Amino acid sequence: MTIGFFDSGIGGLSVLAESLRRLPAQDYLYMADTLHVPYGTKTKEEVKDYVFEAVERMMSRGIDALVIACNTATSIAVEDLRATYSLPIVGMEPAVKPAVEMNRATGKRVLVMATQLTLQLPKYYALVSRVDEGGIVDSLPLPGLVRYCESLQFDPQVMEEYFRAELAPYNLDEYGIFVLGCTHYPFYRNILRAMLPPHIQIVDGNAGTVKRLSALLNRFGIEGRGHGHVDFMCTGNEPAYLDKMQTALAYVNSNLASAEDTP
Ligand code: SIN
Repeated sequence: MTIGFFDSGIGGLSVLAESLRRLPAQDYLYMADTLHVPYGTKTKEEVKDYVFEAVERMMSRGIDALVIACNTATSIAVEDLRATYSLPIVGMEPAVKPAVEMNRATGKRVLVMATQLTLQLPKYYALVSRVDEGGIVDSLPLPGLVRYCESLQFDPQVMEEYFRAELAPYNLDEYGIFVLGCTHYPFYRNILRAMLPPHIQIVDGNAGTVKRLSALLNRFGIEGRGHGHVDFMCTGNEPAYLDKMQTALAYVNSNLASAEDTP
């Protein structure tokens, strides 16, 4: 069986890495929409069209389940995809609910980082109003971070400077948890960990997504008989990008294997 993973770029590899660890007996097809990355600065209508075009190409390759490993694409298109295709489809959701629950005892605030588009969509507002009874959730769009990630900029000095500027308006003593609400952001987990005060936990939605995928595969009787083989595709068919995806997956596997704070 082949599980399709879709993202605008390399961000979804952070979810794929989690899936390779937890579901090693599946094979995978990873698709990046290199023609249109980044999504977070586009319109809803544009992103919806891009997602459908790319998913159609994945379908023609033959997949048995699909993970939309992109928060922005999920917010915009997951319901329409489920209405269109009959295979099991899992999407991303910023881990706001577990963060609020984990934070309850501390009385501190939660900071959700995601793309501009994710944070302004009704799905995000609905999620926050459902779980944020105490009004403790703040949201920070990081429009530049996907571009840094796509250019494989992981230099700790450069990125610390970027994060320090973005976080300058916030009093970090007030915060107990940061939520990484875009699949590109976990690439910076170790850099954030090293620069943030130790009382701030960092969570993402990757483990939760893979647990939902696993439950769905069981429900649909999709048994793993694969060997964790990954095929890569991208909408622009750029050979250099195929190499970049391998490099980025190796980076995630060697640097971010122990995401101990993730629920
Ligand atoms: C982006 O392409 O802007 C990032 C998409 C996401 O994971 O939210």
